[in-house]
Amino acid sequence: MALRNIVTEGDELLRKKSRQVTEINERICTLLDDLADTMYYENRGIGLAAVQVGVLRRVFVVDVGDEHGLIEFINPEIIETSGNQVYCEGCLSVPGRNANVNRPAKIKIRATNRHGEEFELEAEGILAICICHEFDHLEGILFIDKAIDGEIIEAGSDE
Ligand code: NI
Repeated sequence: MALRNIVTEGDELLRKKSRQVTEINERICTLLDDLADTMYYENRGIGLAAVQVGVLRRVFVVDVGDEHGLIEFINPEIIETSGNQVYCEGCLSVPGRNANVNRPAKIKIRATNRHGEEFELEAEGILAICICHEFDHLEGILFIDKAIDGEIIEAGSDE
């Protein structure tokens, strides 16, 4: 098990666009392992993108605690979206802050797994939210950028 340090808001890296993975090698597999370890170790983490541990590659992992368990995404593309849903989001890179964000209710995503196989996944509910949130990280976008009415809820505030 290997934990990596989480990059937090204010670091310019989080604003950069991550690069495509061109070869799935041992380094990428170790990155996937470490992302999962770090996500599970951190309190309430349900998703983690490579950029959040300082690696500008189009890779993320999610586990929202449903029947899918851990899902690893390499070079993901969101190919369909429909509907919308609002959820109060947080992020390991933006500690102590939450915001309501509007996301698609359903998505279809295409990505590559660690064995180099392409797969498609349809997601809704919290899994769709989590995937969209992680996908945004690859584009340098944070959930606070999408806060409804720009309203950020500070932890400890009861409003
Ligand atoms: Ni995040």
